[in-house]
Amino acid sequence: MTRVITIDGPSGSGKGTIAAGLAERLGWRCLDSGALYRLSGLAAARAGIGLEQPTELAQIAGNMQVEFRDGRVFLDGEDVSLDIRSETAGNAASRVAAVPEVRAALLEWQRAFARAPGLVADGRDMGSVVFPDAGVKIFLTASPEERAQRRYNQLKEKGLDANLACLVEKIRERDERDSNRSVAPLKAPEGALKVESTELSIDEVLEQVLKKVRDAYPDLFR
Ligand code: DC
Repeated sequence: MTRVITIDGPSGSGKGTIAAGLAERLGWRCLDSGALYRLSGLAAARAGIGLEQPTELAQIAGNMQVEFRDGRVFLDGEDVSLDIRSETAGNAASRVAAVPEVRAALLEWQRAFARAPGLVADGRDMGSVVFPDAGVKIFLTASPEERAQRRYNQLKEKGLDANLACLVEKIRERDERDSNRSVAPLKAPEGALKVESTELSIDEVLEQVLKKVRDAYPDLFR
């Protein structure tokens, strides 16, 4: 069985950075499941399909031609790496992610990312729904203000437009929607190590996570 480590948490909690760092350290694959929801939101908007058409939304999500190559993301052959990182794309993702048919359409696709020697998967329901048997589960949080500040810095670095007060509000809105939806809501899976990262650096979070991974898979560190 392929080993899986899940890292779940709210928007901007740093799970993407930690997941990528961990995957690199272990030489494992990495699944950014949020990207699949962002791509679904973008593909649906481009096709003019709205939330009131769940069957069509699921068809679009399940049939997108997606390629992850050299750190970039391609949708139907077009490089959409920047487009899917905007706040608008994040909010569109959060909306389509609340549609049960869309989640079902992406489920097996996400599971197929698990291949030897192992997978680090980040998202909202990686440990609870997609990989319930994962050997290590992490739940990463940080205050909404800190997460908004991190997102602000990220967007600025990418040369995208950002407003801090607006980001705090959007983050609270997205938390609310992601935590209260009926299917696979954001919550710490049973047995997860909870890491509150507001006051921690990336290296400090990674250290706590690695300790947990070392306990679960000592052979990886011999
Ligand atoms: O992690 P992210 O910000 O890129 O995710 C964008 C949205 O996608 C998020 O607001 C909720 C949704 N999502 C989800 O519902 N389940 C996941 N496993 C990952 C993301």
